[in-house]
Amino acid sequence: MRSEGRSARRRAVSPSGRARSPVNMAAMGGRQQCLWAAVVALALASEAAFVEDLDESFKENRKDDIWLVDFYAPWCGHCKKLEPVWNEVGMEMKNMGSPVKVGKMDATSFSSIASEFGVRGYPTIKLLKGDLAYNYRGPRTKDDIIEFANRVAGPLIRPLPSQHMFEHVRKRHRVLFVYVGGESPLKEKYIEVASELIVYTYFFSASEDVLPEYLTLPELPAVVVFKDGTYFVYDEYEDGDLSSWINRERFQGYLTVDGFTLYELGDTGKLVAIAVIDDKNSSVEHTRLKSIIQEVARDYRDHFHRDFQFGHMDGNDYINSLLMDDLTIPTIVVLNTSNQQYFLPDRHIENTEDMVQFINNILDGTAEAQGGDGVLQRIKRIVYDAKSTVVSVFKSSPLLGCFLFGLPLGVISIMCYGICTADTDGGVDEHEAVKKENSDRELTDDGSEEEQEEENGKYTELSDGELKQKDLLEKKKD
Ligand SMILES: *[C@@H]1O[C@H](CO)[C@@H](O)[C@H](O)[C@H]1NC(C)=O
Ligand SMILES: *[C@@H]1O[C@H](CO)[C@@H](O)[C@H](O)[C@H]1NC(C)=O
Repeated sequence: MRSEGRSARRRAVSPSGRARSPVNMAAMGGRQQCLWAAVVALALASEAAFVEDLDESFKENRKDDIWLVDFYAPWCGHCKKLEPVWNEVGMEMKNMGSPVKVGKMDATSFSSIASEFGVRGYPTIKLLKGDLAYNYRGPRTKDDIIEFANRVAGPLIRPLPSQHMFEHVRKRHRVLFVYVGGESPLKEKYIEVASELIVYTYFFSASEDVLPEYLTLPELPAVVVFKDGTYFVYDEYEDGDLSSWINRERFQGYLTVDGFTLYELGDTGKLVAIAVIDDKNSSVEHTRLKSIIQEVARDYRDHFHRDFQFGHMDGNDYINSLLMDDLTIPTIVVLNTSNQQYFLPDRHIENTEDMVQFINNILDGTAEAQGGDGVLQRIKRIVYDAKSTVVSVFKSSPLLGCFLFGLPLGVISIMCYGICTADTDGGVDEHEAVKKENSDRELTDDGSEEEQEEENGKYTELSDGELKQKDLLEKKKD
């Protein structure tokens, strides 16, 4: 409490600064209007009061507390969208009596602090706990953010003291990791892994008598994951180190995949086999592909689960813009999350055997990969993004589109005409060189919003790998 006054100035956001009241003011009488404005102002001011506006003193004064901070830029649209959600998060955390303090920092005004915390894009949501900084990368909704904050701020390992507790928790978590046994080197390892992977999942511990009777453990201590209606036991010799096993096992065997899931799956390095379907279409084509994938996920787990994640995706918009392709639903596609390549079946997938054959072809290298993260693909991405921007501008406002793109095009064509009709000797080479230089520059400028220099300083950066393929995914997700 004491540090509050020093660490952060509370500043209620002036409601006049944001004319986002959904009510049509003109349609109301004067007095009512005033009253309404007062109510809105009060509501906004009181919500905003639970979010502390942080400045440079934050760095010194935050140490004793756990902080959930939104690093924003005043000009960024996604940040503006997050603001009302953030105010609600602040209010609810306060009402819950959470020890986590909620703040926001204008990362452009306090850029040296922001970059010390590893802020690269806006908005960036981080939970700061001692020397650790945890990145939030899930959907920006109130409930998801609060769940994240409670999980990461709470105890690393949560004990399950009774059978009743175990059953209760198992119903609530589709994937549940439990350490079974007393103190041991494995437990130390488990705690160490938890301190990193708590951004993704919960970690529990229990004694053997709390667990269901059908469970047979080859030895104690053990780490067990309960999911997909069964359980799997970690085996050091077969499964490699605990951290990568947990990272692989933290998803259900079969998932409904969306942009966020795909982005998260990038951390596992798995190939993702999905049926791209229309969930609302009950025609047999759609349901068949889905159940084929479900069957392979279940019946061939032992063969494929190390390398593959299975699921389906509703609609083809996302996948088409990710792959820059034109897939028609229903279809099956396998994505390599490590390098942005993807595989399409060369013939109709009629049954489970066809699918297994397809997967085996991918594994033995006989299936032909498309896409990827090479230079050509990156250029294609730039062109593709530019094209989508142009199309969307024309769609929303054809006149503006003509003006924005027509005018420069006209100028450029006149210039080209001038260059071409002028003395061509040597001129072409020079022109080529300029073009090449331009495209080089475009490549390095790509994604500049995300590429502010990162200076981690002494803060351990968790969950924010430098994996290139995620930049692409992230761009789509935004
Ligand atoms: C369902 O999918 C089939 C193709 O698999 C398509 O011909 C049909 O029009 C779709 N139905 C609806 C309602 O979209
Ligand atoms: C997926 O990408 C990684 C990284 O480039 C590569 O090592 C691996 O062989 C690829 N997998 C397949 C099945 O192509």
